[in-house]
Amino acid sequence: MRTIELRGNEVVLIDQTQLPQRLVRVRCRSAEEVAVAIEEMKIRGAPALAAAAAMALAVTALRSRARTRGELLRELERAGRRIGRTRPTAVNLFVGLERALRAARSAADVEGIRKAVVSEAEAIAEEDVAVNRKIGENGAVLLEDGDLVLTHCNAGSLATVDYGTALGVIRAAWSAGRKIEVIATETRPLLQGARLTAWELSRDGIPVTVVTDGTVGYLMAQGKVDKVVVGADRIAANGDAANKIGTYSIAVLAKEHGIPFYIAAPTSTVDLKLRTGAEIPIEERRPEEVIFFRGVRVVPKGVKVFNPAFDVTPARFITAFITERGVVRPGELAKIFKG
Ligand code: MRU
Repeated sequence: MRTIELRGNEVVLIDQTQLPQRLVRVRCRSAEEVAVAIEEMKIRGAPALAAAAAMALAVTALRSRARTRGELLRELERAGRRIGRTRPTAVNLFVGLERALRAARSAADVEGIRKAVVSEAEAIAEEDVAVNRKIGENGAVLLEDGDLVLTHCNAGSLATVDYGTALGVIRAAWSAGRKIEVIATETRPLLQGARLTAWELSRDGIPVTVVTDGTVGYLMAQGKVDKVVVGADRIAANGDAANKIGTYSIAVLAKEHGIPFYIAAPTSTVDLKLRTGAEIPIEERRPEEVIFFRGVRVVPKGVKVFNPAFDVTPARFITAFITERGVVRPGELAKIFKG
């Protein structure tokens, strides 16, 4: 099941706001439509955003009426700036944009640019699936029979083009015959864990229990979590990692209880330009996401709300990163980029 695809001159994506009630796809015909889909969280998750960004440029190139190379490049740059303003934290979105723009600039004429951007967008999507499979293979050995594995938010098929990162590790361990069970935190305010992770895993027949975000400490104190595996939106050079709000609390709790805390992510999520997590831009989303719960006001009028979408887990709380290039401790991150 592909989360996002380029079909002709349209980007077709699963509308994740409709899950788990309805599995519906929406068609985006312009970078603007892709940008709105990203802002509305119809498509989300760091690796999926890389594909969405590149495909938005592919659709722009395919539909453009530009007659010269320069005109088309300017149009693509404009579309890129629009996509770049949607969500700031996941570095993958900017990697996807940069790759598509670089492909465009390497072409000699309008037709060449169209072909180059389309083939780069398709390559990003294909690579993502292959990388996730490899992450799964590398991480599966860390999970043992009988493990209760906690995950936060959705780092599954829906957060990528297919298969997932954290859920890729869980899927690979399950396929290898390991009898594991998953605990999915519901992930307030948008419920990616309850709506998306639980949906994906139950479709695959992998046992999953949803808990409220506040239940994690209680479960760990009861000995009911053996490992934590989550995804990441941006990892700084020193191993500090941004992921869905609440991840930091889970990591601190895991350390207190001696539970391994793993981050499964492609190496493209590592932003070597940033020395520490303090430099990672953290998206703040609309207060209405917290004020209203499925249309019902749950916060009194006039009360202030703070709604950051991500937090940063310092490297010292991370046992290891599970990447397509292997499993590495935070201090060894730079090593996998050499050679
Ligand atoms: O706000 P979201 O739903 O885009 O946040 C997603 C996450 O935090 C994921 O854990 C992360 O992108 C990794 S996805 C493989």
